[in-house]
Amino acid sequence: MPSPATSVLNAPVLDARSRALHDLRISVTDRCNFRCSYCMPKEVFHKDYPYLPHSDLLSFEEITRTAQAFVALGVRKIRLTGGEPLLRKNIEVLIAQLAALRTPEGQALDITLTTNGSLLARKAQSLKDAGLQRVTVSLDGLDDAIFRQMNDVDFPVADVLAGIEAAQAAGLSSIKVNMVVKRGTNEHEIVPMARHFRGTGVTLRFIEYMDVGATNGWRMDEVLPSAQVIERLQAEFPLVALDASAPGETAQRWGYANAQGQHDVGSGEIGVISSVTQAFCGDCNRARLSTEGQLYLCLFASQGYDLRALVRSDLSDEALRQQIAAIWQGRSDRYSELRSLLPTESHATPARKRVEMSYIGG
Ligand code: GTP
Ligand code: 5AD
Ligand code: SF4
Ligand code: SF4
Repeated sequence: MPSPATSVLNAPVLDARSRALHDLRISVTDRCNFRCSYCMPKEVFHKDYPYLPHSDLLSFEEITRTAQAFVALGVRKIRLTGGEPLLRKNIEVLIAQLAALRTPEGQALDITLTTNGSLLARKAQSLKDAGLQRVTVSLDGLDDAIFRQMNDVDFPVADVLAGIEAAQAAGLSSIKVNMVVKRGTNEHEIVPMARHFRGTGVTLRFIEYMDVGATNGWRMDEVLPSAQVIERLQAEFPLVALDASAPGETAQRWGYANAQGQHDVGSGEIGVISSVTQAFCGDCNRARLSTEGQLYLCLFASQGYDLRALVRSDLSDEALRQQIAAIWQGRSDRYSELRSLLPTESHATPARKRVEMSYIGG
């Protein structure tokens, strides 16, 4: 009979809303070479911005040890994020360490990474060789002028497209492209993006512009609801709704239809991520580890839990697992659900308190 203290070990834990812990997102740097206005506006993230010093960052060994504790508690998917994760030196070494982790049943994990694609053409093969299985690329439009304007560092779209092709050529599977849609900025790119990626094996996903962080000056009238994205796509390509592929999935899936109105698998699918108009907190199974080892229980949380202090103490692996389990068991966050209950321009957490997406990762 296990004692209460050991019963959480190697067993899935549930939070206060009975949500499992399945997905761990690890931010490996708070820096990025882009300045997307919805994430790292230039006025705030200027050349003197106080990024974290290297000694504050979790080392690869510390990240791997922490990840191992999460795996014992139910995590099966690890996503590396940033800032821009490919800016972290020797990221391949971390990927290899994470790829060697095993679940209590002896299975490998699903390891993926979200990147802006700027360094992907150069790095796709080494990432794949290190053990990365798949990749998600952020891309907000195909029109070079709009793309350069949105990344705000004049980065050409052709280089990101070359990165996506390199990822395909390297054998990274289930490649996804995430497009944040801002009404009045890149909404005209919706249909061209769908046309471009249809039938290529790449899954394009449209993300509602969110009120994340405190610096992007978010306004509801810049959000284009996903229902309208689908409407605009349907006018050009018939779509059929698809079932979720995993519990707690962020995206609603739609397949391109054939003449019989059925999903044409060869043409692929798209997704919409509607955290503003249709919150998906109900089965949110995502934990976030910041670059300096703070555990955040929600993308919109204002406070983290200092796991770095625990990892740098003489705590045993078992005790570390117990501490993380206890934090998760106390979790009741559901920011997007709460914000959707409020009047349009109000926020469930005061903006000045919310953590930045570049620090915590998408
Ligand atoms: P797959 O496992 O590849 O399907 O990816 P994912 O569903 O984990 O999605 P991804 O990491 O690509 O996230 C896509 C976008 O969804 C992010 O950039 C965020 O904008 C948004 N997002 C992801 N997770 C959350 C979340 O927990 N809450 C909210 N509100 N938005 C999220
Ligand atoms: N709203 C929606 N998505 C955002 N991202 C960053 N900021 C926002 C925001 N305000 C997402 C982008 C990028 C990922 C790193 O985070 O899609 O793909
Ligand atoms: Fe960088 Fe991604 Fe943020 Fe753009 S959205 S500034 S690419 S981290
Ligand atoms: Fe999860 Fe928070 Fe996003 Fe809701 S708002 S889905 S609780 S991260």
